[in-house]
Amino acid sequence: MTDFQDYRRRVDALNHHSHQYYVLDDPQISDAQYDAAYAELQKIEADHPDWILPESPTQRVGDAPLEAFETVRHRVPMVSLANAFDDDELARFVQRIGERLDLDTESMAFAAEPKMDGLAINLRYESGQMVQATTRGDGEVGEDVTQNVRPIRAIPLKLFAEQPPKVLEVRGEVFMPRAAFDALNQAQKNADKKPFANPRNAAAGTLRQLDPRIAAQRELAFFAYGWGELDPDFPWPETYSARMQQLQDWGLPLNPCSETVTGFSGMQEYFERLSAKRDRLDYEIDGIVYKVDDLSQQQTLGFTARAPRWAIARKFPAQEVWTTLTAIDIQVGRTGTLTPVGRLEPVQVGGVVVSNATLHNLDEIHRKDVRVGDTVVVRRAGDVIPEILGPVLSQRPEQTQVFEMPDTCPECGSEVVREPDKAAYRCTGGLVCPAQRKRALHHFVSRKALDIDGLGDKLIDQLVDQGWVKRPDDLFHLQAGQLQSLPRMGKKSADKVIKAIEKARHTTFARFVYSLGISEVGEVTANTLASHYRTLEALQEAEVEELVTLSDIGEVVAEKVHQFLNEAHNQAVIQGLVEAGVTWPRPEPAAAETKTVESPFNEATVVVTGTLSQMTRDEAKDALRQLGAKVTGSVSSKTDFLIAGENAGSKLTKAESLGITVLDEAALLEALDKAGIKS
Ligand code: IVH
Repeated sequence: MTDFQDYRRRVDALNHHSHQYYVLDDPQISDAQYDAAYAELQKIEADHPDWILPESPTQRVGDAPLEAFETVRHRVPMVSLANAFDDDELARFVQRIGERLDLDTESMAFAAEPKMDGLAINLRYESGQMVQATTRGDGEVGEDVTQNVRPIRAIPLKLFAEQPPKVLEVRGEVFMPRAAFDALNQAQKNADKKPFANPRNAAAGTLRQLDPRIAAQRELAFFAYGWGELDPDFPWPETYSARMQQLQDWGLPLNPCSETVTGFSGMQEYFERLSAKRDRLDYEIDGIVYKVDDLSQQQTLGFTARAPRWAIARKFPAQEVWTTLTAIDIQVGRTGTLTPVGRLEPVQVGGVVVSNATLHNLDEIHRKDVRVGDTVVVRRAGDVIPEILGPVLSQRPEQTQVFEMPDTCPECGSEVVREPDKAAYRCTGGLVCPAQRKRALHHFVSRKALDIDGLGDKLIDQLVDQGWVKRPDDLFHLQAGQLQSLPRMGKKSADKVIKAIEKARHTTFARFVYSLGISEVGEVTANTLASHYRTLEALQEAEVEELVTLSDIGEVVAEKVHQFLNEAHNQAVIQGLVEAGVTWPRPEPAAAETKTVESPFNEATVVVTGTLSQMTRDEAKDALRQLGAKVTGSVSSKTDFLIAGENAGSKLTKAESLGITVLDEAALLEALDKAGIKS
């Protein structure tokens, strides 16, 4: 038999475990145990509907769609912040504080925390119960979005406090984590619905969703960074940081990157630290907020008409800007794929000037409805290639035209065909097309291929334009005298190029295979092929049935490899290279065929990212292969381990969101050591 006290204890326990899970990231019971306890609670509530407590975890999601949101006047206005766009502006902010308080700011404490790129929200707690959640609105009047905030698991419906204050308004930011945003947009795409432009818009759209059941399906999170109305009789701590600590003790989530720093120099160090971490965070931030920590000092400083004098937002360079799309050019790739490239009115994004951005393919251009002449939203996050998110339709000039692919290749005039079932368009010119010829040669000499230093892309283009080089093996017949006749090429540099070409004759079988530029055969697959077949003759006789049994090679790749090696033109090139004296030592037999080493990486799918300190990434990949791992380039649900070095970026974020085990370089070194392999 259950009584009400028992029911209440169960609600408290579930809320405690939910907080451990969603806020502290430190679950104390398994998901299955939680689910079982939740199911029991539901049963008790079904038997005793009159017991149901508003803070019960079953009461997070409402079911009555609203007609519209009610407006609510804030009891304490929700002000905004002044901005500082560079160090000078930040220094002036600190200086003004020093003058007004007549203090040496170098020893003053400031709270420093990320400026979340989400939406400000006011959570009202009365006697510990959350009774209302409102948006900022214009700062004076906002909207009641309680129904959509209750499902946010990081927000406690009841404070964990023995004696809660009569009134507490918590302020903070509601945001959508990147992983949740990616999943939501994927679902939007699958349902043929328009994707959201960024996590902020997705969060805003979710909070303003009239049907609470839809809002509850989307994952939002929350960090507290302040307060509104407070119970005047409650003994509140005297500093910002101590008050925030109090809120945290009551179950409200704070940003774990928050710190208290000292003086302008402390602020700058924090800026450096956070900037370095920015791309690895699972949410978007657009700057740092610094606040005077001492609340009596805050009071002395007071407010200007718009913002507090005791706080400032030090903004990061914008990652999303507007500019004009002046043209869409077509680039012809190594295998003939036509890629549209957006040419932009140059603009600063994320601290660098951008004048080109990828548009991926025709479907994408049509889906986004981007046209030449449009004002477009350009985004650059971290070191990712700048991307055109979409047009600003209100700015569209008259008479723009929907973009179409050309019927003929802009480089060689050959017919363009669309690959069946693919978004890709391809030039049919093959190596007749100078663009493809050039790209194939750029690939052939690149670092991971034959690594011919000194043969830059420009020089190759000249050699092709002169008609001296049509295929890779032609490179080995070049003469220094010939090169010297090119503009700006002296005897010394000509000799250097010839020397570099000479040197490249001695290579490895894997590099040779990779350098051929077989479509779909990257470095990893080239390695697999080389260590399995070990001789050119064996590789040339490979059958599709055998190729597909190799790790990392599926049917599509096997077909491509087979086709390539059996095509007369390619055979002539390979023959030509061998005749020109390109040689390599016979590769060791594949590790798996000789011995199986004991290692956690045996048979595991592993990705390496970031900068390692003891070895290069390529060395790490080789080492992993020796340990029996399958090394791939991108993180997916099939990945078993991610080895992350310094400054790991999106791969790390993705791995973390997929719950993949992330290891550091030391773990790899240890495994090598145990297996008796020298790193
Ligand atoms: S404090 C009186 N702290 O920035 C101080 N705001 O431009 C009020 N924001 O509307 C704000 N992260 O939406 C503060 N750590 C943070 C913040 C933050 C994001 C947003 C908030 C506010 C806007 C002010």
